Amino acid sequence: MNTNPYMKSFITGLVCPKCKKHYDHGQIQHLCDCGSPLLVEYDLHGAGKHINPESIKNRSANLWRYAELLPVQDEANIVSLGEGWTPLQKLDNAGKRYGFGRLLLKDEGIIPTGTFKARGAAVGISKARELNVEAVAMPTNGNAGAAWAVYAARAGIQAHILMPCDAPLITRNEIVAAGAHVHLVKGLISDCGKILARSLPAHNWYDASTLKEPYRIEGKKTMGYEIVEQLGWKVPDVIAYPAGGGVGLIGIYKALKEMRELGWIGEKLPRLVAVQAAGCAPIVHAFGKKAKESEFFSDSKTIAFGINVPKALGDFLVLESLYATGGNAIAVEDAEILESVLELARGEGCFICPEGAAVFAALKKLRAGEWIKSDETVVILNTGAGIKYPDTLSFDLPYCPVDGTV
Ligand SMILES: Cc1ncc(COP(=O)(O)O)c(C=O)c1O
Ligand SMILES: [Zn+2]
Repeated sequence: MNTNPYMKSFITGLVCPKCKKHYDHGQIQHLCDCGSPLLVEYDLHGAGKHINPESIKNRSANLWRYAELLPVQDEANIVSLGEGWTPLQKLDNAGKRYGFGRLLLKDEGIIPTGTFKARGAAVGISKARELNVEAVAMPTNGNAGAAWAVYAARAGIQAHILMPCDAPLITRNEIVAAGAHVHLVKGLISDCGKILARSLPAHNWYDASTLKEPYRIEGKKTMGYEIVEQLGWKVPDVIAYPAGGGVGLIGIYKALKEMRELGWIGEKLPRLVAVQAAGCAPIVHAFGKKAKESEFFSDSKTIAFGINVPKALGDFLVLESLYATGGNAIAVEDAEILESVLELARGEGCFICPEGAAVFAALKKLRAGEWIKSDETVVILNTGAGIKYPDTLSFDLPYCPVDGTV
């Protein structure tokens, strides 16, 4: 029983954004019959009577401060490692150099597991526990698998993680250390997904593939709530995000619309920007053609492995968020990403992941082209820590002789 009024979730159900069919959130659900991902709906009117920006103010510094707008109904099911409420760092040096009014970095590198994937995993695993799931399974390029493995371990849920054999060793080790079953595949994440789909009928596994379970969006949407709350319940002009599956962007857009309906922000939303690597840019290509969906991006390749997603299930939702907010989509080369990693580490002390650095590289271009004006507030979503990418940078350094001086 839920006795704590603070923990009342105002979830009402699941809805298909394509055909509008409704589904019961009390049962395990995956995709809509029409093949679309499902989105969580809330009684926002009821939630608005129960909470407001003032009443949230003194709550604990993690994503569960928005519990009424999250899907977990019984507090006892929450599986948490303290995720969320990451800092919004000022990038004054970089901002000045490129003529930004206010440049901010939402730094997800300091979250448990070192990437924002912890948000989706915390909420996804908590809801899985509420639905009495005993085993989850998912394909991953590494970061999501690592996050789901540790949260599953904490929940006492078995995890089966399928990953490409060349996915980063550091995430593979995290997954094994957390006691999950790793299935290495000589192929891409898309091959892992196909193997999982073929294997599911033989097992009682909960399919936690990206957007095939509806709750990780809810975890990721809290980045949107936090950005706005940390800016004193004011929206920035631009939020730019490294889009792979695009779940974070879909989540942030959903959060903005919820806040607007709650009356916590005004009508105007930030312009959302999807940043991709030139070696894997299906959303950017689709945006250029004003298309509603993307096409499969063949032979994709980038050092920013988290955004190496050739065709996302929720591409139409990502594109909708860009069109609806007057946003943009832009691709950057791997060389520009590496340059940006070093620039932010040296100029700001922020050693961020290549995906986050891609966003900075893209924003420099958008500012130079005046798509971003000199008085605007711009938020870079850094999705992970640079230290989770030990092989991305390599420096040839000379040795100092042990009997020498420096
Ligand atoms: C560090 C990092 N950034 C960004 C992404 C892309 O996430 P999304 O699916 O929300 O687009 C990923 C996904 O693996 C990631 O690991
Ligand atoms: Zn549908």
